[in-house]
Amino acid sequence: MKNKMKGLILAGGCGRRLRPLTFSGAKQLIPVANKPIIFYGIEALVKTGIKELGIVVGETAKEIHDAVGTGEKWNIRITYIPQQAPLGLAHAIKISKDFLDDEPFIMYLGDNILKEGIEDFVRQFENNKPNALILLTKVPNPQEFGVAVLDENSVVKQLNEKLKKAPSDLALVGVYLFDSEVFTAIENIKPSWRNELEITDAIQWLLDNRFSIESHMVKGWWKDTGKPDDIIEANLLVLESIESVNNGRQKDSKINGRLRTEKGAVIEKSVVRGPVIIGKNAKITGSYIGPFSSIGDNALIENSEIENSVIMAGAQIKNVEKRIDRSIVGKNVVISVTTQSPRTHKFILGDQSYVQIIK
Ligand code: G1P
Repeated sequence: MKNKMKGLILAGGCGRRLRPLTFSGAKQLIPVANKPIIFYGIEALVKTGIKELGIVVGETAKEIHDAVGTGEKWNIRITYIPQQAPLGLAHAIKISKDFLDDEPFIMYLGDNILKEGIEDFVRQFENNKPNALILLTKVPNPQEFGVAVLDENSVVKQLNEKLKKAPSDLALVGVYLFDSEVFTAIENIKPSWRNELEITDAIQWLLDNRFSIESHMVKGWWKDTGKPDDIIEANLLVLESIESVNNGRQKDSKINGRLRTEKGAVIEKSVVRGPVIIGKNAKITGSYIGPFSSIGDNALIENSEIENSVIMAGAQIKNVEKRIDRSIVGKNVVISVTTQSPRTHKFILGDQSYVQIIK
């Protein structure tokens, strides 16, 4: 696809709802199927043909810069735009004005993943040239999102941000296309109750002032990875469509279903039921790794059972007999079982960690 538009990824948020995982790292870098979440957004934009990408960054700027780089990996140019504080999505656009240069652009929230990409969506914008194009999908929990009300002809009538009684179940997915009128809208709105300049309010301003807003329904799944359960769910959804690739070694093991292993990964005396992905130099020994698990680089799983979980790089899980399910285990975390006296539970957990033990 050819596309002269610029892309803007927002990665300035602090990931409060993902603590403790975000105490030590940016939420956009949490791995889903062993790939940082923000890479899914970058790749979706690259697929539409963009060559110039701006990334709005906050406190975690350095980390994001280190992980993403200059864009060489994708043959694009990346400009980092610092945001002093997370003052809202519309604020992020406002401070990107020089980069965006009054041209139409695609804004993509750095914690969103869409299965089918965004090419159809970009095509609709290029064909119809509305002032704004929003992406929508039905959700069971609309009070947690911005929502749009459409009339019987699918014309956008009203937008609201996170209302307790949402007037519609059509959530605004975190991808938007705008022309430069959005800057006028942003100049005319006030911060919301959460002290943010809301993009939803800016689009409502465009509606009120008779600019053209079109909508597009998402095909395939969409995930906003704002909370821990969303990470587990996104991991499951991405793993559902992985292909088997074997770059590692297997010995005395039983493998069913799709398995992707990276270079140096070792599986021995274990049972693996895919879809599963195992990172570089990770070692699985005497264990069961069940469907929808991602095991990070250099992780060690020894005599343990894991299912539906995201185990990050360098984590070690040893001799845990009872199955670990729907869990997220951070980088270099160690979970082990003692046989020595006193046989006590021992925890060294960061703030807001969560542990569930079974009897
Ligand atoms: C933001 C938007 C909201 C949208 C959501 C999609 O919410 O404000 O309208 O539905 O992204 O991911 P936030 O992630 O800031 O809570």
